[in-house]
Amino acid sequence: MIELKTESELAAMRVAGAVVGEALRAVRAAAGIGVSLRELDEIAAEVLREAGAKSSFLHYHPRSAPAPYPAVLCTSVNDAVVHGIPTDYRLRDGDLLSIDFGAEVDGWNGDAATSFVVGTPDERDLDLIAATERGLAAGIAAAVPGARLGDIGHAIGLVGRAAGYGLVADHGGHGIGRAMHEAPHVPNEGRPGRGMRLRAGMVLAIEPMFTASGRDDYRTAADGWTLHTADGSRAAHAEHTVAITADGPRILTVP
Ligand code: MF3
Ligand code: CO
Repeated sequence: MIELKTESELAAMRVAGAVVGEALRAVRAAAGIGVSLRELDEIAAEVLREAGAKSSFLHYHPRSAPAPYPAVLCTSVNDAVVHGIPTDYRLRDGDLLSIDFGAEVDGWNGDAATSFVVGTPDERDLDLIAATERGLAAGIAAAVPGARLGDIGHAIGLVGRAAGYGLVADHGGHGIGRAMHEAPHVPNEGRPGRGMRLRAGMVLAIEPMFTASGRDDYRTAADGWTLHTADGSRAAHAEHTVAITADGPRILTVP
């Protein structure tokens, strides 16, 4: 069952999305060399407190995970793709950091992510991040009424594959609303014109994850959460919560 959101529900989701956008902005601004991942989690938690919002991530416990998620922010460094748990690790010059954050306000959720380099960037990391952002933009552009779910994955996958990057197998976006994860699953690769018809009022979290080596396989860390590329190559992640409307895609997760 796909729940279609009304215009006033989209307005409520926009409030949660603004908190997410603000938290990602604050974390990114603070993420310098020598700063620990736990300190970044604390900054994100402070944005929630100030907004009177709840974390969508803290204590989240899907069947696939051995333990509830222990933080409000995901911090995935270098070969970590997504779901990196903030630790005492201190950021180093040239680290590729992906941050992912979810907030709940009045029962509505927002979920977004962004990737960037700390300190002096390697050109290859900037290319990988730029492609991931282009993949996200292409996926968002395909999220229009009358199109199909496969059009979104097709648009994202085309960008990634054309640049020679890998797409993390089995992982993608999702419907979002009163729950952070709702139907449908939104694959990062797809066949144009196939899959569920997109309708105004659907809200999707679209989230490409590209790997530098071009390989799609991954492993889960001993912590049960962090996804790493199987070959240790770097990965980037970008995500927005997007409403499909008659006027076109509306990004909800901006400050
Ligand atoms: N954007 C991520 C996802 O949809 C956020 C989940 S983090 C978790 O999978 F900790 F809550 F699982
Ligand atoms: Co998500």
